[in-house]
Amino acid sequence: MACERIAERPRASHFLPAVSRYSDIFAGAKHVLERNWREGHNDCGLDFGYTCPDAAKYPDQFFWDSCFHALVWSRLDPARAMRELGTLVAAQQSSGMIGHTTFWQGPCRLARAFTYNVLDRRAFQTATIQPPLLAWVWAEVAERAGNAAFAESGRAALVRFHECLDRERADADGLIGILQPDESGLDASPAFDSPLGWRSHPKVGFLALLAFNRRRGYDYRRVVADGGFHATDVLVNSAWILGWEGLARLGHPGASRRAEQLTAALVKRLYDPATGFFFAEGPRGERLGVATWAGLAPLALTHLPAAIRRRLVDEHLLNTERFWLPYPIPSTAATEPSFIPGESRYFWIDRYWRGPTWLFSSWFILRGLLLAGREDEAAHLVDRTAALVTRSGFREYFNPITGQGMGAGAFGASTAVAECAALAEETLGRRRVVA
Ligand code: GLC
Repeated sequence: MACERIAERPRASHFLPAVSRYSDIFAGAKHVLERNWREGHNDCGLDFGYTCPDAAKYPDQFFWDSCFHALVWSRLDPARAMRELGTLVAAQQSSGMIGHTTFWQGPCRLARAFTYNVLDRRAFQTATIQPPLLAWVWAEVAERAGNAAFAESGRAALVRFHECLDRERADADGLIGILQPDESGLDASPAFDSPLGWRSHPKVGFLALLAFNRRRGYDYRRVVADGGFHATDVLVNSAWILGWEGLARLGHPGASRRAEQLTAALVKRLYDPATGFFFAEGPRGERLGVATWAGLAPLALTHLPAAIRRRLVDEHLLNTERFWLPYPIPSTAATEPSFIPGESRYFWIDRYWRGPTWLFSSWFILRGLLLAGREDEAAHLVDRTAALVTRSGFREYFNPITGQGMGAGAFGASTAVAECAALAEETLGRRRVVA
């Protein structure tokens, strides 16, 4: 039976407009995605087709990167978007888990085997998670493609994925925990510096943290029971709630109610009314009071109370000292002592998400601004993000003050700029954003 909620008709507006001030951005995004596309059969004869984040640095399939690639593909070539998501689901383990990284083209490279969260060198997938946005993206892609059969084809697997996270990660209020900072998508986020101390990425103790978790099979409940690091993260739970919103769109009974309850739980537990901002919670239930862009991610949630949305936007996002920098959104608020806008290194090793702008963030924030009806700010964010990519190319991350590009050169998730531009044109009307 086809999914009744998804119309059997492509959403006319979802393709990229033929004439747009962002035409170069759209063409560049297509070039990057095509260049990074990988397809074939793995050793077990499983068919795959996905976009790697970067050919040299990240040749494998990364969970939340793939979600963003699929959103952009859905505007260029819906068949590839569906294939990208189908490949992610084809990698699902019998427990329902879909891990952070899947190694379709052979085992994890030796150089990465020590720091990737694999149970053994030949593992097909890491044993850890990334922000679980998949069900939302699946519903969005199905809707754009007008493909009810695709919507239906993923539903059982997506429900099993959610059941797995519920069983293995959820607390009584339904929010889910992480056992390493990289599970948050933000590998070396300063939000976790204080509880991790010498174990924060990439200090020597980080290897001890990995060894501790590996010995416990990356089993979250065991790690918690044995006193290991764990946290309740704002971005991960925002993605988790969006996932439930996605299951609701796919027609899963009770999912809509679940998304509402979880949004209320997120507010109750991670929102700080004194500052009007969301913060992660550490292993002792303590508030981890470093302001990172993750604290703005709830803006993307449909059921976020309007007063909280307003405070997030007016007091934090649009604050030119904190997040509204020349090239927003910095991964860490510029007022934080840990903020480093350029490359951040510990000896020779990169430390990510301590200040630079990544474009994964732009999508969450743009969605929030559009939900809030903040049209001018939404148009500004898209313009600045497009200016960033025009200036520096589809780099992995950028200096939010100077716009200088850093990291990988043709980075898949930076094509999110095309998704943002198209979303803004579609929502605000071409009169407003097209000169
Ligand atoms: C880095 C990022 C992570 C991303 C990965 C691949 O590890 O921190 O969020 O998924 O690169 O792009």
